Amino acid sequence: MAEWIRACGLDDCPPGKLLGVRSGDRAICVANADGVFYAFEDRCSHQEFPLSEGGLEDGTLECAFHGARFDLESGRPVALPAIRPVKKYPVEVRDGGVYVEV
Ligand code: FES
Repeated sequence: MAEWIRACGLDDCPPGKLLGVRSGDRAICVANADGVFYAFEDRCSHQEFPLSEGGLEDGTLECAFHGARFDLESGRPVALPAIRPVKKYPVEVRDGGVYVEV
């Protein structure tokens, strides 16, 4: 059953940055693209490298390991070597924090 968790405070993930957070045994990558927050499973669909180690560029999340890029809106790959999407979580910003539905 889905539940909302508080992933981080707004100041924990400044614009242009990624943040890796854990909730139980779940790893989440929070992304702040110029004030718009996104959240993904923190695992690249190519070889499971943590996406939170990568970066943001032109509306995409780039994996630091082999350079695959994923669309922030859909989680779909837009650059090889990844060919499968990454799991994206719904996000809400409220009470000074970033909440993720997992
Ligand atoms: S593990 Fe991410 S591109 Fe290879």
